[in-house]
Amino acid sequence: MDVGGALREIADCSVLTDAGAVAGYLVDWTGRWRGGPAIVARPRTAPAVAAVVRACAAAGVPVVPQGGNTGLVAGAVPPAGAVVVSLTGLDAIGEVSDGAVVAGAGVTLAALESFAAARGLTCGLALASGESATVGGAAATNAGGAEVLRYGTARARIAGLRAVLPDGAVLDRRRPPVKDNTGYDLVDQLVGSEGTLAVITDVTWRLEPAPRERTVLALAFGSLPDAVAAVPRLRGLPGLLALEWSDGAAVARVAAHIDSPAPLPTDGCWVFAELDAPLSEASEVAELLPDQRIAVGVGAEDRARLWRYRARTTEAVNAAGVPVKLDVGVPLPRFAAAQAAVVRAVREVAADAAFPVEPVLFGHLAEGNVHVNLLPGASAPDRRFPEELAVRLEAAVLEQVLAHGGTISAEHGIGRAKRAWLERQRGGAQVALMRRIKAAWDPAGLLNPGVLVD
Ligand code: MLT
Ligand code: ZN
Repeated sequence: MDVGGALREIADCSVLTDAGAVAGYLVDWTGRWRGGPAIVARPRTAPAVAAVVRACAAAGVPVVPQGGNTGLVAGAVPPAGAVVVSLTGLDAIGEVSDGAVVAGAGVTLAALESFAAARGLTCGLALASGESATVGGAAATNAGGAEVLRYGTARARIAGLRAVLPDGAVLDRRRPPVKDNTGYDLVDQLVGSEGTLAVITDVTWRLEPAPRERTVLALAFGSLPDAVAAVPRLRGLPGLLALEWSDGAAVARVAAHIDSPAPLPTDGCWVFAELDAPLSEASEVAELLPDQRIAVGVGAEDRARLWRYRARTTEAVNAAGVPVKLDVGVPLPRFAAAQAAVVRAVREVAADAAFPVEPVLFGHLAEGNVHVNLLPGASAPDRRFPEELAVRLEAAVLEQVLAHGGTISAEHGIGRAKRAWLERQRGGAQVALMRRIKAAWDPAGLLNPGVLVD
């Protein structure tokens, strides 16, 4: 029996093969990365996931786990002939116990956050894509987001998990003892493994007390170096939850996209700060940063109104064309210089190719993280870079980032998109060790082949 036939025999699982039905599973969010043809399996229980993986192992067919498909590095785009295992049907949320809850891999971050909020808690992971991004995807990619400063990355939120190994066996560490010093930490190994070692079916998620009062501040600085220079003072703000930034041009782009004029000038650089503190304390910002142009959001609507100038950047970028997306990090002392060098290098490559490019820069200031999005100018055919130019633009950015002591991926991961660069940052010996780890978990190489390591 072919793998499609075997999958159709599995209880609690639907199988999609029709080109129209599978199309959305084969392409990433930006439209740059496309894969397939592939079959899509949609199991609804963990045993059904195990049966799918077993059937694929028996047929020697690659398996690509996929959550909300909001990744940005082609980590869930299937190679031809693979089976995409969509986990969104595993959407049950259990009871809170020991401060953590077991959630099915397909539970969205928005659903987890409203479950937590109803109990006076927060999941502590704030992604702009939270309505679609899932806890399984967040675990598999060690997702970051806006509140890493307070709550850490997904790794810090994960107390346990259950996963299906490449041969279909189940690893169940949903409720490990809080203190458990018994050998290698297999849960931690799976966090950030990008679906290359096992298929995560459930995540035990640590919840935290929800901030009682939130205040959002938007601050307009004259330039990025000015904004970076203010970071030590901004870190002194009471109850700091998030410290984000956007280049003024990026804010202006969002303002045009949402058709809502920005409340502050956009000729420099904006910083967004979210505080777990009432306005009276937040007004300390005026003492910390006298003469600063500031907009303040207190009520939920006002806060959302300010945040959208940062949170809707990706959407505004995607509406303008197919971007080359990079997600780099540079230590703060070299942050502004690295960015100037990146923009210079990108403009040189674009000028050499006589191709218009529009850099859109924004990210997570507290961690020195910048999302370098490069859009083809309005005159570019199909609003898309030719692939050869896209590769040169990526190289221009990543060379500068490495030269400034930074990381080629601060939060989006390696996927297929950055694999060729992994060794440049981590070195041959570490990548060789990663390959041996991959081979130990997945000797047949059937789980998300081509992602992270080849
Ligand atoms: C963000 O911080 O908004 C996300 O990482 C999405 C993106 O980089 O496009
Ligand atoms: Zn981000």
